[in-house]
Amino acid sequence: MGSPNDQAILAAALLQSRRTILPKRLVAPGPDAEQLQLILNAAASAPDHGQLLPWRFVVVPATARTALADVFSVALRERDAQATPEQMAQAQEKAHRAPLLMLVVVDALKGDPQIDVNERIVSAGCAIQNMLLMATALGFGSALTSGKALKASGLRSLFGLGAGEQALCFVSVGSVQSSKVTRLRPTPDDYVSTLMATQHNPGAQAAKALTSAIAFPGHRAPAAGLESPFEMLVACHERVNRSLDVLDRLQQHVAAKGLDEEARQAARDVMRYFDQAAPLHHQDEELHVFPPLLAGSDTQMHDLVRKLMQDHREMESCWTAAREVLRGIADGHPSLAMELAPVQADVLHRFSALYGQHIADEEDTVYPQARSVLPEEGLQAMSQDMMRRRGVV
Ligand SMILES: Cc1cc2nc3c(=O)[nH]c(=O)nc-3n(C[C@H](O)[C@H](O)[C@H](O)COP(=O)(O)O)c2cc1C
Repeated sequence: MGSPNDQAILAAALLQSRRTILPKRLVAPGPDAEQLQLILNAAASAPDHGQLLPWRFVVVPATARTALADVFSVALRERDAQATPEQMAQAQEKAHRAPLLMLVVVDALKGDPQIDVNERIVSAGCAIQNMLLMATALGFGSALTSGKALKASGLRSLFGLGAGEQALCFVSVGSVQSSKVTRLRPTPDDYVSTLMATQHNPGAQAAKALTSAIAFPGHRAPAAGLESPFEMLVACHERVNRSLDVLDRLQQHVAAKGLDEEARQAARDVMRYFDQAAPLHHQDEELHVFPPLLAGSDTQMHDLVRKLMQDHREMESCWTAAREVLRGIADGHPSLAMELAPVQADVLHRFSALYGQHIADEEDTVYPQARSVLPEEGLQAMSQDMMRRRGVV
């Protein structure tokens, strides 16, 4: 380990050597599996207020580029009905550039509602820069690209974006085929100023402090406070659906390609979700949503709530069986080398099938009713408790 000075010199050299190499100039070979892990791990060192992990990256492998190309051309046609065949082909071609292509997604709703979207985007930016620097250190070129297609409904559905999620940009990495001269960098004089003591204005400060005291007394404005816990519950359902979608695609993948690293990773992802987040979600409902409805006089609602609680017990017991199958996949159990046995596929199918009606009943009937009977203090207590049990506050 060198002295801090040496480290600083090394760090500056790395930072200054990073520059955009446009995706059309990024060619094979891209990062191998080990290099990819280094790049992805670099993101984890980003600052993340409240440890929300408000961002995620979706790798777009060669096999999925055509689907992305289609999304790009459909998005162009939606924006411009007069787009020529050449322009459509150009839009499609962009999906096939660079050996490593990832979409950056940020979640504005996940976790603590006090941490606003700007902080989440800053955290995502830091994670992205860490990855770009690691790619640079490994000798690769890299680029960020954006574009109107990021907001297209086709892209949202291809990547399974939840209600609170937005696509920020693409990250491309690959070997540099050719590059242009590095642009002239700004200097600190261009972007740094110093607050002068003479700028201090006690009157303005006092006014500002008062505004803060009113706007931010530690209790959110009523509208946000009222909406947030139920938005959090709906966001959980989106993640349940996404995990079930992964589970479904995992089975197709194992049937087509056997048990490879991609299958193992998908199995681990699904296990992590249903081991950790799903039980907390059931608790949220059983502690805060169901009791006020059971205390009411609507007997039909009582029946529905009891059925939903029964569903929870069934989901928990089915999960134990489904988890066994996924554990086998994650551990690369040899008996699963090519395909799942019918009984194993059936276990996974039964687990997935429990959610459709359950989620619809909650979102269409139970949540709106519970929300209408819970007083504001109840909503705030619910929100606080949900965050406390997740270790956010
Ligand atoms: C969020 C984001 C999106 C970007 N999207 C594009 C893009 O769509 N096309 C492009 O040519 N450059 C894009 N850029 C890259 C900038 O143009 C690039 O950083 C700039 O030219 C400076 O080059 P440098 O990174 O070598 O300093 C994007 C940069 C950021 C931060």
